[in-house]
Amino acid sequence: MSAKVIIGAQWGDEGKAKIIDILSQEADVVVRSQGGNNAGHTVTVNDDVFKFHLVPSGILYPDTLCIVGNGVVIDPKGILEEITNLHNKGISTDNLKISLRSHIVMPYHKTLDGIKEEYRGNSDIGTTKKGIGPCYMDKAERSGIRMCDYLNKEVFEAKVRENVEIKNSIIKNVYGSDVQYDADAVIKEYREYLEQLKPYFADTTVLVYEAIKSDKKVLFEGAQGTLLDIDLGTYPYVTSSHPITGGVCVGAGIGPTMINECIGVMKGYVTRVGKGPFPTELFDATGEKIRDVGHEFGTTTGRARRCGWFDAVIGKFAVRTSGLTSIALNKIDVLADIDKVKICVAYKKGDEIINEFPASLEELAKCEPVYEEMDGWGDISNIRSYSELPETAKAYVKRVEELCDAKVTMVGVGPNRDQNIYVD
Ligand code: GDP
Ligand code: IMO
Ligand code: MG
Repeated sequence: MSAKVIIGAQWGDEGKAKIIDILSQEADVVVRSQGGNNAGHTVTVNDDVFKFHLVPSGILYPDTLCIVGNGVVIDPKGILEEITNLHNKGISTDNLKISLRSHIVMPYHKTLDGIKEEYRGNSDIGTTKKGIGPCYMDKAERSGIRMCDYLNKEVFEAKVRENVEIKNSIIKNVYGSDVQYDADAVIKEYREYLEQLKPYFADTTVLVYEAIKSDKKVLFEGAQGTLLDIDLGTYPYVTSSHPITGGVCVGAGIGPTMINECIGVMKGYVTRVGKGPFPTELFDATGEKIRDVGHEFGTTTGRARRCGWFDAVIGKFAVRTSGLTSIALNKIDVLADIDKVKICVAYKKGDEIINEFPASLEELAKCEPVYEEMDGWGDISNIRSYSELPETAKAYVKRVEELCDAKVTMVGVGPNRDQNIYVD
């Protein structure tokens, strides 16, 4: 049995897609189980840069079955654009399957996402405005529309009509906006999209179960990251799904006994896009340098990512809450030519040392990082074996491993497929 879960262990954008792409060389199935097109996953193959939002990153391998599971919320227009872009690049999507149970992101979800953010004013979350939160709200409220609903004309139309009526009322009467939807127009537009998506529909829970049972190699591609988890993240500055490993079981429709490896992807530093607390955030030239060298601009929204030192309190929290069996540590090449690299080993609140990530944002705001300084390294982007890494970089990797309490098995030294080092 080979089922590996790959999740983000920080605030997203850790380079999950790069790890998925590398591991996909030997995988039979790649599964997305949560989030939607708020995700932006980059795979670099020589000079070609592929950006995925809903389609699993394994699609670049022609024989790999790529599954969008029941826990994902799908913008039909968005996924069709991705499919078309892939076709234009000569990449087949014949092996793509979309769960019949997945929820559809409707146009009013996107509108509601935007106007709620506006309404929040200075306390906005900084969402991607892709309608993710409102779509998951409808799912939890039991008024969402699923892919399988499209297969029954009456059911689909009735659900769209009911939703459009209620959403129009909320948009107008609660938020005072003039945006209003016409149910017939929405039905017509979405029918066109969904008709094109219909060939991809499947009961994906069966496909995943059978693949694992028949010893196929299955990868679960996490989206977002641990601290964006709606339960365990920096609530309310989080997304609306479960990016931790536990979310995979629900979002793919399998039991925990079917997973045997959980890999957490981290960067050698930390980034965050959107609002919310970030204890090790840098506001100085080093932060700028990391942003420039690491090209830290959002794949989905183009927003500048906030950058800061590696935070082992977060790393340890991710290992604990996701039962991580190993760590893939990306982007340590970005720290090249920084004389002294810092790692946050704990937080300090007054005289008190805090070793566990606090639940309350007010508590977190009182925490100052406690740093350890380590010697830096030079350009490592051409190194391909662990033994050739400078001793200072190896010491950094080992310190991350010790502090987070999980083995670092892969180290990223560049965005390309081959810029990855397996740790002996
Ligand atoms: P994801 O959302 O976790 O898949 O990550 P993103 O694709 O949003 O952001 C990660 C960025 O870092 C992408 O531009 C990757 O090409 C790039 N990247 C991944 N690993 C490395 C690495 O080890 N070094 C460098 N320099 N870039 C990397
Ligand atoms: P990947 O998969 C980084 C952030 C948004 C915002 C918060 C809520 O590429 O790592 P949402 O639109 O989900 O309601 O926004 O979550 N966010 C991400 N940040 N990487 C992502 O995905 C993200 N997906 C959502 O910026 O702060
Ligand atoms: Mg990303």
